[in-house]
Amino acid sequence: MCGIVGYTGTQEAAPILLEGLKKLEYRGYDSAGIAVLNDNLLAVSKVTGRIANLCEKTADGKNCPGTVGIGHTRWATHGAPTDTNAHPHMSNDGKFAVVHNGIIENYIALREELIQKGYHFDSETDTEVIVHLIEMYYTGDLKKAVIRMSARLCGSYALGVVCTDEPEKVYVVREASPLIIGVGVGENYFASDVTALVSYTRNAIYLDDGEFAEITPETIVVFNPAGHPIIKKISRITWDVQSAEKGGYEHFMLKEIVEQPRAIKAAIAPRIKNGDIALDEAELTTEYLESVNKIVITACGSAYYAGCAGKYAMEKLCRIPVQVELASELRYNDPLIDEHTLLIVLSQSGETADTIAAMKECKKRGAKTLAVVNVVGSTIANTADYTLYTWAGPEIAVATTKGYTTQVSVLYMFALYVAKKMNRIDKEHYEKLLKILSTLPKKVQETLDMNSAIPALAKKYHNADSMFFIGRNTDYAVALEGALKMKEISYIHAESYAAGELKHGTIALIEDHQPVIALCCNESIMEKTMSNIVEVKARGAEVLAVTFKDNQKMVPLADDMIFIPKMDAIFAAAVEIVPLQLLAYYVAKENGCDIDKPKNLAKSVTVE
Ligand code: M6R
Repeated sequence: MCGIVGYTGTQEAAPILLEGLKKLEYRGYDSAGIAVLNDNLLAVSKVTGRIANLCEKTADGKNCPGTVGIGHTRWATHGAPTDTNAHPHMSNDGKFAVVHNGIIENYIALREELIQKGYHFDSETDTEVIVHLIEMYYTGDLKKAVIRMSARLCGSYALGVVCTDEPEKVYVVREASPLIIGVGVGENYFASDVTALVSYTRNAIYLDDGEFAEITPETIVVFNPAGHPIIKKISRITWDVQSAEKGGYEHFMLKEIVEQPRAIKAAIAPRIKNGDIALDEAELTTEYLESVNKIVITACGSAYYAGCAGKYAMEKLCRIPVQVELASELRYNDPLIDEHTLLIVLSQSGETADTIAAMKECKKRGAKTLAVVNVVGSTIANTADYTLYTWAGPEIAVATTKGYTTQVSVLYMFALYVAKKMNRIDKEHYEKLLKILSTLPKKVQETLDMNSAIPALAKKYHNADSMFFIGRNTDYAVALEGALKMKEISYIHAESYAAGELKHGTIALIEDHQPVIALCCNESIMEKTMSNIVEVKARGAEVLAVTFKDNQKMVPLADDMIFIPKMDAIFAAAVEIVPLQLLAYYVAKENGCDIDKPKNLAKSVTVE
């Protein structure tokens, strides 16, 4: 949830740390801080609020001279967002500073032990135990102190540590929280994700759980938990600098919405070879697929809703039962999963704590795991048996857009691939659907082009206290994600309902001028949803329909319409969500919300 960065080299560290923190701000943005080593002294600056405040306080880093340092942007878990609770945290003797992303689960016991030993605590954070443990174990060798400290921690942590006695060194430690070392020339870096590194280097070392590293300007030595040096591969970062920047757009979210045709193309086009789907990274044998008696999809938030959208195509084409499970529930449900289950794990970040835990639980029970992930080298990507990357590029806005649509597109592709492998689809139908799949980028582009009226509609609807999103079947799956988009960025209460459920209770809430967003892009069930529209209209609702361009049937029913091009419902969710993303965006803009960084949220939920 938080973002950490570090630098050791010959340049001034503070401006580099601040630049890195700006890139990581989407991970947490309630307070921030840096610690810079200068003349064997540690200078720490911390602020409540955004990185901009930290830049102001440090005069863009000019007030913090020194060539080695660490930084942090916080999403508060333990203790309110205050200057004192902000990282870095210092040892009592002033020799050590620590930044931490994650949660130390046994911090209460450690805190009591340390207090009894005479250490005093300034903050309410779990993190502060780490720096006092290091001080306690330090006998002139930071590496040994780091090993002993790590052995005492339970939980998840990515750490950066500096020490005045070993002034060129930065230590980093990883356990269940992302940590990447950026390899430079005469200087080195670390960060929670590559967006903070791409301006400086394309060469990266991804630490695995339990590993730690000693970084100096000239050397990087990675160790296993016992402290033995190990050889790590240097990977090439393929994301470019521009894709992690706004590129003229007012918000990352809008930029990422507009990028969707390109992102979906990158997810599907290279996997279509000679008129066939080639999933080289997940070559599942027909024999294995025949042994699978159910597919379970697990994820959180929008990724879970992407699973809901994928389920329809998968069951229809593959004729295998598909269950979609919230990872936070699945992990504690004693799930009925065995070697005949194929588990599909969806995650943009690849670092969501509940999703990782659910995946590990299911692996333990014998399931094969297939991850659909955006971030290369992430924990989920590395833990799964097979990984299909979504190749969406960096997604910075907290509200996912291209992350969701590329996940859905990859699920569609996988469904078609399995259906063919298992001989559950005839050649003609397969070819027809493959063609539809290949046109998804074009359909999304058309959708973006045909909805120029959405900003005006946002002006009409932005004062609503609540909104209902209704639909049936594939439309219902999209309603779930549409309502979440509206809630998280505009703060308007939004609920999604299977349209057929309205009469079972919810219709009691419909009164004059209640906005109802009705999704009607599935022809097989459209008439039924239209009846539900009539019912809510009879009770005074204001209906905004999402439907095909030129759907004349809808004209007399809906108050307003937004459009997608006419297409087969089986693959429509990846297109149908787009006008709802735009609607949420423009409503939030009307309401003056902080669109890229909604309150209380963080991009990557690395804690339970
Ligand atoms: O990185 P992940 O895809 O695992 O994240 C899962 C959810 O936290 C995420 O989709 C969240 O719901 C988004 N902020 C919604 O826009």
